[in-house]
Amino acid sequence: MQIPGDVLAVLTDDRTIISGDRVQIPFHLDDLLYMRVNRMLVDVGGRWDGRKAVRAHVFPFHVESFLTACLAAGEWPSTYDRAWYPSPPPVVHEVLEHAGIQPGTTVLEPSAGTGSIAGPATGRGGIVDCVEIDTRRVQALRKQGAARSVTEGDFLDLDPLAVETGYRLVVMNPPFATAIEHVMHALGFMADDGTLVAVMPEYITWHTDRATREFRELIARADGEIKPLPDNSFKVSGTQMRTVLVILDGEPGGPLPTHGWLQRQPRQLDLFAIA
Ligand SMILES: C[S@@+](CC[C@H](N)C(=O)[O-])C[C@H]1O[C@@H](n2cnc3c(N)ncnc32)[C@H](O)[C@@H]1O
Repeated sequence: MQIPGDVLAVLTDDRTIISGDRVQIPFHLDDLLYMRVNRMLVDVGGRWDGRKAVRAHVFPFHVESFLTACLAAGEWPSTYDRAWYPSPPPVVHEVLEHAGIQPGTTVLEPSAGTGSIAGPATGRGGIVDCVEIDTRRVQALRKQGAARSVTEGDFLDLDPLAVETGYRLVVMNPPFATAIEHVMHALGFMADDGTLVAVMPEYITWHTDRATREFRELIARADGEIKPLPDNSFKVSGTQMRTVLVILDGEPGGPLPTHGWLQRQPRQLDLFAIA
């Protein structure tokens, strides 16, 4: 949902304090504007606590980083908004711990949102390229300035072979509804000995449709790992969807359809044609 301009102005005002689990607006708003600000903060999960010692909207979670991402994008998540569920800090920590970024590591974040993963990945020394389909989030990413490049567009339309070499790391939290498609496509951007760490919906562990079964088989053949994330990991971002981390380590000649694997395909087809 887009944050109305006047509400955004209040929340980004230098005098507004967004810290820990609360938001304090220590200046006067007219009734109508107050109602609009209040409506958004309540929608995000806050509750007005009028006690003299508090006088703030208090949230049942650490709202600071989440609200900062919302204000940067000028919106807050709604189910209909291209499934923007920013990764909360504990999830980002988990992703990056498994990714093991070294200074200078090339990293792809192919559904980057406002940079909840990409920013800290750069902070750990990664050289990060981002892709994001939503214009406002692209603007927020560019403003964040953490990524080496930000491509606006549909990641699924990008050709993996348009990049010269595969990325050492792919870190991602793709839209849940098309998560398998996104992860399979992302493997084509990964170096043969690279690593992919993806946040995915927990139902990939038990759905029985063909695509999900084949995906699980691929994970097993590649000795990949599926690690449950704690329940309600994304509650602060507006969804109770259960999630897992999928960790895939490539190896030259291994079963994953990596960048090198894709590059080898035309030659194999040529050989086949000669035979
Ligand atoms: C679940 S959010 C996660 C955002 C970010 N990765 C994070 O962890 O905070 C998914 C993001 O993917 C973006 N997205 C959806 N479909 C996309 C596509 N086809 N290509 C690129 N980005 C896409 C959405 O706009 C949204 O920002």
